Amino acid sequence: MILPIYLYGTSVLRKQAEDITKEYPELPKLIKDMYETLERSEGIGLAAPQVGLPIRLLILDLNPLSDIYPQYKGVLKTMINAHIEETDGSPVSREEGCLSLPGIHESVTRKEKIKVTYLDENFEQHTEWFEGYMARVIQHEYDHLEGRLFIDHLSPIRKQLIKSKLNAILKGKVSCDYKVKGIK
Ligand code: CO
Repeated sequence: MILPIYLYGTSVLRKQAEDITKEYPELPKLIKDMYETLERSEGIGLAAPQVGLPIRLLILDLNPLSDIYPQYKGVLKTMINAHIEETDGSPVSREEGCLSLPGIHESVTRKEKIKVTYLDENFEQHTEWFEGYMARVIQHEYDHLEGRLFIDHLSPIRKQLIKSKLNAILKGKVSCDYKVKGIK
């Protein structure tokens, strides 16, 4: 089932998401629906708050990157109750976008390497280092679990420059090829 993507302005995107247990209702169906929604919207990552649920669940589907990065072909990743334990390397800047912020693309500086502890869809615990583009996508989705958006990382000048685009989203003036839910 395709779920609507919650847009900038909805309060769920600003909540601190909470850990879940194995008993969370219909979790396998939710994960399946999130993958379907992500594929339809041609994104590479999706966090549960973006489908209206303030829980610590995020998914990645790096297949759209595999033309440029063959190592990401077939890479799907489900992370439950993820926590970034450690970071390493030099800060890296690169352009990002977000399904909750249609039409906005800005350069964001992130950590190069991150060590993450998380549970997979079977609630088995993993601790892994990630780097490169994958580390960036995880940090972007992880921000959603903390109630942060990529635009929060921008300089005051860049924030000023995108203000009219943000206001347009708040007014419901967005054109997306995917199902959305905004405040208007
Ligand atoms: Co996002």
